Amino acid sequence: MDALQITGGNRLRGTVRVGGAKNAALPQMAAALMADGPVALTNMPNLADVRLLAKILGELGVESSVEAGRMTLTVTDASHSIARYDLVRQMRASICVLGPLLAKRGKAVVSMPGGCAIGDRPVDLHLRGLAALGASIHLDSGNIVAEAKRLKGAEIFMGGPFGSTVLGTANVMSAAALADGVTTIEMAACEPEVADLGDLLNAMGARITGHGTPRITIEGVPSLGGAEHPLIADRIEAGTFMVAAAITNGEVTIENCRLDHLMAVVDRLRSIGVNVESENGCVTVSSSRRLAPVDVVTQPFPGFPTDLQAQLMALLCLADGNSIVTEKIYPDRFMHVAELNRMGAHLRKEGPTVIVEGVKQLIGAPVMASDLRASAALVLAGLCARGRTRVSRVYHIDRGYERIEQRLQSLGADIERVNED
Ligand code: EPU
Repeated sequence: MDALQITGGNRLRGTVRVGGAKNAALPQMAAALMADGPVALTNMPNLADVRLLAKILGELGVESSVEAGRMTLTVTDASHSIARYDLVRQMRASICVLGPLLAKRGKAVVSMPGGCAIGDRPVDLHLRGLAALGASIHLDSGNIVAEAKRLKGAEIFMGGPFGSTVLGTANVMSAAALADGVTTIEMAACEPEVADLGDLLNAMGARITGHGTPRITIEGVPSLGGAEHPLIADRIEAGTFMVAAAITNGEVTIENCRLDHLMAVVDRLRSIGVNVESENGCVTVSSSRRLAPVDVVTQPFPGFPTDLQAQLMALLCLADGNSIVTEKIYPDRFMHVAELNRMGAHLRKEGPTVIVEGVKQLIGAPVMASDLRASAALVLAGLCARGRTRVSRVYHIDRGYERIEQRLQSLGADIERVNED
């Protein structure tokens, strides 16, 4: 198994380009199940999660090929409807095939995703939304079995105890695109990745308005065609590089960075004394002084994203005072806390909140990654820690960051991939 070995202390300097968004890519790849022609997605990142979904889609009769970041997906055999447990259990986001499969093939059998390192992660809102469109749904041997000859438009409320659901909105919006009549989704997820999926579906011939707002209206159409669509830039990857610049007191210019997708993050970074400047589509992040502490609460978009909570916490470890980090999306998403403490951080967890007492320096240590964003936080901590840090189980980070060590090396980081076997 690979690990990342980092010797901290180098100030990052230079330019890095952000890739297409993983969380936009996955539901859009699944939408290809509904197309009568090829769907081409450009700006496609080369990530483990993308390759895994391509494999699942392959078993569902969707052929895919990638050339220079352009993925083409074509349905060649529409006779399958089963997404197997062996594959689905490796990535919860595989649930995004449920809506498209059901809408197009009349039946979907998708293994029920289990919990994961960041919490329970139920799918009740997905199922309620699809049932409201007329699907009959039951559970059989750990599989969700959803059936409907033809879905019917409906008014659907997608709110749950932790707000809306990103992939739930994606599933219901996609399925409703092929339903009879009009669907409205109230309290839809407003994340840019949902808006981008709506844009792809419209390019395929769907009639969707309001995507990117809490009220989406979908006028069903009888069929969808092929389309070409560029994926939006990955705001979480961009935010991770922003923290990398700040935590090393460096100066990094980030290309292909959508600041309008990162307002809450920029607000928190500026509050703690990090400079963020935007010019000609590039964002330059720099820092040269001791940071101020801040409070941060994760929220659905446009609030501060849960997917950057761990990375910001790594930065706050070095602030001059106490910060409070509250997780309102996944109250248990704190697997990085104990590992950061192994590096000399002073973090105390109280329910869904962590009190971060700033320290002067982090100290390198062997640490263990437990999920994608926690791994990113540990790498960031390693970049500024005194001495050597080894982040094990780095396959987590490969799920969402392409060639992370090479890109950090190009900015001057002392980081290498080593084999631990
Ligand atoms: N929830 C329910 N019922 C549901 C679905 C969700 O109660 O049926 C709850 C969840 O437990 C959570 C909240 O609603 O408390 C939000 O979950 P959501 O469904 O929005 O998460 P998701 O769609 O499964 C996507 C991203 C995650 C990101 C979350 C929140 C993808 C592939 N994944 O997951 O990304 O954290 O939205 O923004 O889009 C990551 O990239 O590292 C990652 C975990």
